[in-house]
Amino acid sequence: MQISDSSSRILAGLLEARTGQQLTLSRRWRIETALSGLMRERGIGTLDELITILVMGKEPSLSQMVVEGLLNNETYFFRDRSPFDLLQRYALPELAKRRAKSKRIRIWSAGCSTGQEVYSLAMMFVEDPETWRGWTIDILGTDVSTACVDRARLGTYSQFEVQRGLGINQMIKWFEETPDGWRAAEALRKPVRFQVHNLLEPPPHPGGFDVVLCRNVLLYLSADKKALSFERLSSAMAEDGWLMLGAGETVIGQTSRLGADINARGLYRLTSGGERVEKRHGDRRAAAGGA
Ligand SMILES: C[S@@+](CC[C@H](N)C(=O)[O-])C[C@H]1O[C@@H](n2cnc3c(N)ncnc32)[C@H](O)[C@@H]1O
Repeated sequence: MQISDSSSRILAGLLEARTGQQLTLSRRWRIETALSGLMRERGIGTLDELITILVMGKEPSLSQMVVEGLLNNETYFFRDRSPFDLLQRYALPELAKRRAKSKRIRIWSAGCSTGQEVYSLAMMFVEDPETWRGWTIDILGTDVSTACVDRARLGTYSQFEVQRGLGINQMIKWFEETPDGWRAAEALRKPVRFQVHNLLEPPPHPGGFDVVLCRNVLLYLSADKKALSFERLSSAMAEDGWLMLGAGETVIGQTSRLGADINARGLYRLTSGGERVEKRHGDRRAAAGGA
């Protein structure tokens, strides 16, 4: 299946307009593979035929499916591992102290794909009942893709998916085998919820998130869309909350609203007036700037 330049430009334009994601020339080879299933399902023979239907605007649901097909949904449990160690070692113990009175923690995973990141976070809490007994843990997973959010809500994974990132003990302890796949146990489902949400829109309720994760989502956004996303993400954070990005992603040079946490490499905090701010026990002081 050969795709013409003009067709790939139309698809790239649609994807960018809906999600901010750019389909750079080097990634356009993905189009054919990404859309072949959908085209087969709909009995559409060629990409040009698909483009014609899209341009005529007769099937709005088809354009959403095309956008979702073009998104990169790669994810797995405890992806890259070290960010989760950092949360375990640093952010969660800090929150256990800082939120001791309210006993409430809110986490937002923006661009959660099919939910593995969210269930990994839930596992960190349920595996430490001593610390978190009596706490209200609210982990919200959002994604622009309805299909991903539906799958995340289902919380049922194939043998291959459940083994990616989980040890055998975790898999057996927190997932039950069903005819449809491995289903997340009730204990993992209780603290999590999912909703369709576009990162470029105002953040989801209730806001004031203690930790915001936005990992491997911003990579292909243009500079202005990235800036808008950082604006959205930072406005959703608690004053003393943290942002976590994917490996190789940074806020440095992209926004003045966020800066590196000098106590924990890989976590970002809100700044005041573009300067890095360290806030401890209610004592606010500006720390030296830079990465
Ligand atoms: C590569 S996956 C990363 C999943 C997970 N955060 C991880 O690191 O394993 C990127 C996800 O971001 C979602 N996404 C892309 N653009 C988005 C946008 N504008 N708003 C919300 N989600 C978006 C995609 O649908 C996809 O599921």
